[in-house]
Amino acid sequence: MERTVTLQDGGQVVIRRMRPDDGERSFAFFAALPPEDRKYLRTDVTRHDVVERRVKELDSGRVERLVAVVGDRIVADGSLELVGHGWGDGVAEVRLIVAQPYQRRGLGTLMARELFFLAAHHKVERVVVRMMRPQSGAIRIFRKLGFDEEFLIPEHVRDQSGSWQDMIIMRCNLEAMWRELEALVEETDMKRQIEERTGLG
Ligand SMILES: CC(C)(COP(=O)(O)OP(=O)(O)OC[C@H]1O[C@@H](n2cnc3c(N)ncnc32)[C@H](O)[C@@H]1OP(=O)(O)O)[C@@H](O)C(=O)NCCC(=O)NCCS
Repeated sequence: MERTVTLQDGGQVVIRRMRPDDGERSFAFFAALPPEDRKYLRTDVTRHDVVERRVKELDSGRVERLVAVVGDRIVADGSLELVGHGWGDGVAEVRLIVAQPYQRRGLGTLMARELFFLAAHHKVERVVVRMMRPQSGAIRIFRKLGFDEEFLIPEHVRDQSGSWQDMIIMRCNLEAMWRELEALVEETDMKRQIEERTGLG
C-alpha cells in the first residue's frame, strides 16, 4: 500500500506501510518530536531499542504500522494494534502522531482514514484510542473522527516525566467513523473506495 495524498495547503506526502528498513528514519522522527508531544507517549521512543522493537513487531501480524514520508523523512506515524487474541476479536487500538510542522494540515485525518481502511480490511468493528487527559487537542480531533464514547480512569497511567495522569479511552464503531470521514475528507468516491478496498459495502 502506497498512496500520495495532498494536504489542505497543497503539500504532498506519501502514506505507506512501515518497512523493516525504517528503523533509523523512525528513530529520527521520534527524536525530533517536541517534549510536549513526546511526554504522553506510552514508550520512551528516544531509546533505540524501543524504536527497533516497534519495527520488529511488523512481522507479528498483530499490528499494522503506517508512516507518512516526505522525501526520505518520516513526518507521521500511525498504528492499528490488535487488542484481543486475534484480528477476529473485532477490536483494535489506534495510535497516531504527526510531526509538528505537519500538524493542522489535514495529515492526521488522512492517516486516520488509511488506518480505518486497514481496520475494515481486518474486519475490526470497534476501534479504541487511549490518551491522557491533558491531550485535549487530540481528544477534540478524535471526536471529530467519529469516536463518540469516552471513558475516564482516574490517575491510571504515568506520563514520560513520571506523573500520574487520568486515562481517557475513546471508542467508536467503524460505520460511524466512515460517516464522519466522508464529511471531513469530502471525497465523493469514498463509498466506492470503501467497497473496493475492504470488500464491505
Ligand atoms: C492528534 C494529531 C495526530 C492530529 O493530527 P493533525 O494532522 O494535526 O490533524 P488534522 O490536521 O487532520 O486535524 C483534524 C481536525 O482537528 C483540528 N485540530 C488539529 N489540531 C488541533 C488542536 N491542537 N486543537 C484543536 N483542534 C485541532 C483540525 O483543525 C481539524 O479540524 P477541522 O477538520 O475542523 O479543520 C496531532 O495533533 C498529534 O500528533 N498530536 C500529538 C500526539 C497525540 O496526541 N496523538 C493522539 C493520541 S494517540
